Amino acid sequence: MTKSDIKNPALAESGRLRIEWARQNMPVLKQIEDRFIKEKPFQGLRLSACLHVTTETAALMRTLKSGGADVAICASNPLSTQDDVAASLVVDDGIQVFAIKGEDNPTYYKHMDACLDHHPMITMDDGADLVSTIHQKRPELATEVLAGTEETTTGVIRLRSMERDKVLKYPIVAVNDAQTKHFFDNRYGTGQSTIDGIIRATNRLMAGSHFVVAGYGWCGKGLAMRARGMGAQVIVTEVDPLPALEAIMDGFRVLPMAEAAKIGDIFCTVTGNKGVLRKEHFDKMKDGAILSNSGHFNVEIDIPALEKMSRQQRQIREFVTEYTTTDGRRINILGEGRLINLAAAEGHPSSVMDMSFAGQALTTEYIVKNYKTLEKRVYNVPREIDEKIAALKLAGMDVSIDRLTPEQSKYLSSWNEGT
Ligand code: ADE
Repeated sequence: MTKSDIKNPALAESGRLRIEWARQNMPVLKQIEDRFIKEKPFQGLRLSACLHVTTETAALMRTLKSGGADVAICASNPLSTQDDVAASLVVDDGIQVFAIKGEDNPTYYKHMDACLDHHPMITMDDGADLVSTIHQKRPELATEVLAGTEETTTGVIRLRSMERDKVLKYPIVAVNDAQTKHFFDNRYGTGQSTIDGIIRATNRLMAGSHFVVAGYGWCGKGLAMRARGMGAQVIVTEVDPLPALEAIMDGFRVLPMAEAAKIGDIFCTVTGNKGVLRKEHFDKMKDGAILSNSGHFNVEIDIPALEKMSRQQRQIREFVTEYTTTDGRRINILGEGRLINLAAAEGHPSSVMDMSFAGQALTTEYIVKNYKTLEKRVYNVPREIDEKIAALKLAGMDVSIDRLTPEQSKYLSSWNEGT
């Protein structure tokens, strides 16, 4: 019997079909998997993953297993697990899964512990919770780990802080920072899946709404672009002058949150910081305002502060909690302030996760081949991996591109030719 803690193994059939559907749009990962089946680069390798348990993640887990890895996985967010996918991974693939959608915080960390009991030689994180748990609670495991990978911006920021403070006990490769990851997943993936989550949760019309995007990083850019595409009037808030300027030149209105709070119908935070929407903003919001978050952790909206200023709280729809303030306004929080694209929808579509998870698979192979040369630092994904994924993705889309002529190659590497 495969060790696991999942909602219900009987859901496996539904999970199997949905995984099959996702895999149809993951040609890059499929090619890598076909090679791994032959070459078995991960024979004898124990890997623990803390990722959103979705159909796309299932495709990655199968690819790693096909390469010979012994895999265990837990969720990287209490609300993002797709229970049928978890069931299929256990029943059909014999992969250890510790994840149940809606698990409470103690269960979330109990599952992480179970995943670490696997004694990983590689950790694969989305948000750095495995690394953080190993460093803070189970340091004895660190000596067994060759290296880890990190999927998301928030995790990379945490890990770079650990590197700066010289506390990092093993090397990490920042998969998020590969161009084939954040140019596409963070922008087009987050852009589409966040709108999808907000619409599934609320069934509200985007057209004509005042939509406030907090944060204009790659995720904020994608979200603002897609909200505008749906006809919303988009306001961007920022703390950094450079992306603020970019947002203005991209044609968005930029305001401080204190001003935007009075205007917005729908808010979404994508900053990676905490307390982005807080009491001073709730005080100014319109009756019926909708608040959501698509950043990694559920700290961007100060929900405890909203609770304190409310006289009533009720679940008005699935994924919508309505707070009535003491002055009688209704403020709605979507998905408990957790990643709305995964809480109320299905996360990024498979076609974009194809590149992100190809990055995870090839980076894992890179670690296995190169771990002896890696130090206790945060590394970027090698350029050749990025280029390979981009080329494979184009081929998968049946798109060809031009080649430099010999004269052009020579020109680009010369310095003496002018007008
Ligand atoms: N992060 C965002 N979307 C995702 C997905 N579909 N699967 C795994 N992780 C994700």
